[in-house]
Amino acid sequence: ARLDARNTFGVSARAPLLVEVADAAALPELFGYALLRDEPVLVLGGGSNLLFAGDPPGAVLALGGQRIRMLEDDGERAIVRADAGVEWHALVLWTLGHGLAGLENLALIPGTVGAAPIQNIGAYGVEVRERIHAVEAFERAAGTLRRLSAADCAFAYRDSLFKHAPERFVVTAVEFALSRTPALRLDYAGLGAELAAMGADAPRPSLVAEAVCRIRRRKLPDPAVLGNAGSFFKNPIVPAAQAQVLQAEHPSLPAFGGGDAALRKLSAAWLIEACGWKGHREGDAGIAASHALVLVNHGHASGAQLLDLARRIAASVHARFGVALEPEPRIIGAHW
Ligand code: EPU
Repeated sequence: ARLDARNTFGVSARAPLLVEVADAAALPELFGYALLRDEPVLVLGGGSNLLFAGDPPGAVLALGGQRIRMLEDDGERAIVRADAGVEWHALVLWTLGHGLAGLENLALIPGTVGAAPIQNIGAYGVEVRERIHAVEAFERAAGTLRRLSAADCAFAYRDSLFKHAPERFVVTAVEFALSRTPALRLDYAGLGAELAAMGADAPRPSLVAEAVCRIRRRKLPDPAVLGNAGSFFKNPIVPAAQAQVLQAEHPSLPAFGGGDAALRKLSAAWLIEACGWKGHREGDAGIAASHALVLVNHGHASGAQLLDLARRIAASVHARFGVALEPEPRIIGAHW
């Protein structure tokens, strides 16, 4: 099966087998077949967080479940359950439409609900782990569906248990804990300014989502127009002492605090831009002119060409700043 239209980089790839499953209840039986049971299986959501540097070695599995339902609602807190196949932004709109706050900062993130916990999607000051109540996943070795609490998932910045063991689980549904009383998170630079520019002096969740959409549309290229997978690199987390030295030398380098006072997160976009890559193009592989973190396919770049460019970008940042960049998307068919 061709996968060109199933990855947002729009690169060519093919899989020996593509299995589309409408109902996760079929997974135990499906994984009874040797073709899946004993072989690597790539679970594919929206294809918006992976790079096919080569073909996947085994079957590709796509979950089609589209249900969203309210599991609990006491008029204040609600638990919403969504199948893995639901488009992420459609879920955000559904929750806002039901008067539930909590996902507004995560508006317009490409991909599916099932992919959201894998890399703990985050934007504009919120990570999805803060809203996840539980994750339902099929555990291949056990052959059964399991329910994992947020604590079980070992979430960290763009990271989780699932990311470390990609063959172990197939996420089938996610439950979110949301609230009818908004606790708006407006601290992220640019969000408050965008709301002010919209004339929203009494922000509410739907307006925050609208502001996030406006910022994203301006900064991040639409994959339907220009192939990309959002941020290609994670913002590097370095010892605070190293961040201090770098910032003394480069006062405009943005650094952010995390949970740990001994560590700082640096802006990968700034480092890449400082090395002259922003807007750079080699054939059809390049870096977006609107955002230095976004690797783009201008048409017919191969996954291998994109990976080669990304490696040289990381090498130049390392040579100049002594900081190692790591890719954010999963790379198929090659090792970083
Ligand atoms: N910057 C530059 N050059 C650029 C772009 C940004 O120097 O070309 C600097 C600016 O100083 C800016 C700072 O970097 O203030 C931060 O930029 P931005 O707000 O765009 O955020 P980011 O750190 O580059 C992260 C996420 C995005 C998420 C935004 C907003 C990662 C790897 N990326 O990007 O997530 O939308 O914050 O919260 O953490 C994604 O994961 O695919 C993604 C798009």
